[in-house]
Amino acid sequence: MKKSYILVIDSGLGGVNILKALKETFAHENFIYVLDNKNCPYGEKTKEELVQIALQIVTKNIFKFNIKLIVFACNTLTSVTIEEVRYFLKKNHLQNICNKDIFGIVKKKSPNYDISVVGTEPPIKMVNPNEKTLICATMQTIKYNKIINENLDNENFDFVALTDIAKMVDSNFYNRKSIIESLKQQIPKKDYKNVVLGCTHYYYLENDIKLALENPKLKFYNATLGVVKRVKVMLKKYENQTVENNLRLKKGKIVILLTKPNRFLKKCAKKILYNDL
Ligand code: DGL
Repeated sequence: MKKSYILVIDSGLGGVNILKALKETFAHENFIYVLDNKNCPYGEKTKEELVQIALQIVTKNIFKFNIKLIVFACNTLTSVTIEEVRYFLKKNHLQNICNKDIFGIVKKKSPNYDISVVGTEPPIKMVNPNEKTLICATMQTIKYNKIINENLDNENFDFVALTDIAKMVDSNFYNRKSIIESLKQQIPKKDYKNVVLGCTHYYYLENDIKLALENPKLKFYNATLGVVKRVKVMLKKYENQTVENNLRLKKGKIVILLTKPNRFLKKCAKKILYNDL
């Protein structure tokens, strides 16, 4: 049987932390990680651009590999494009586009199951609504994310759209000085109790945010565990729909695909994945 993969997507190193948790939990699964550095940062692109980017990556990979499940390891892609991508991936829709040229790719056969997409969202529900909380995310996540929009009225919550930080994480992974400076300028210095990390790139920045806000006691929340739990549910659903035997004994493999060659990023991604920081 053709090897099946879970396709994980982000604009850079952010999603690697989610990939790492997935690999540790589902050791026998195979993963393709699309590190879309060509289009980084997602957070400052329009909805039209992001939908186009997401559909292109998805099409290219589902038509090339046997993809059983897709994970958007990115709050921006999730908030802005997930509905369009889910519609695109419906079995009936994929059958309709068979033999047609989509983004220069022609697919002869389509899967006979809906490919599910698991998203990543700011875990606002995990924090106490009565506590002073900073929710930081990209500009487009703040604009489009439903959970953020449902919580805008809460006076204890400050929603801050950070610019440039994702890109800076990718280019200055080991040198945080400029990141801390930029955080200092962008985040209001208030006495926060919690920080909700609404962008996967910020998962690496807990210490930097503590330093920028001069508050070592901050409590951080990210979505990794929620994504892992959801993937577990969706893998069960996939296995019920197909004949795939889930009793695989071999360790799974991970393929990292950059959309623009960059040895530094590829090396960093591997170091994060294999605990070699
Ligand atoms: N890591 C992504 C997120 O969670 C995207 C950051 C970006 O490219 O702007 O939103």
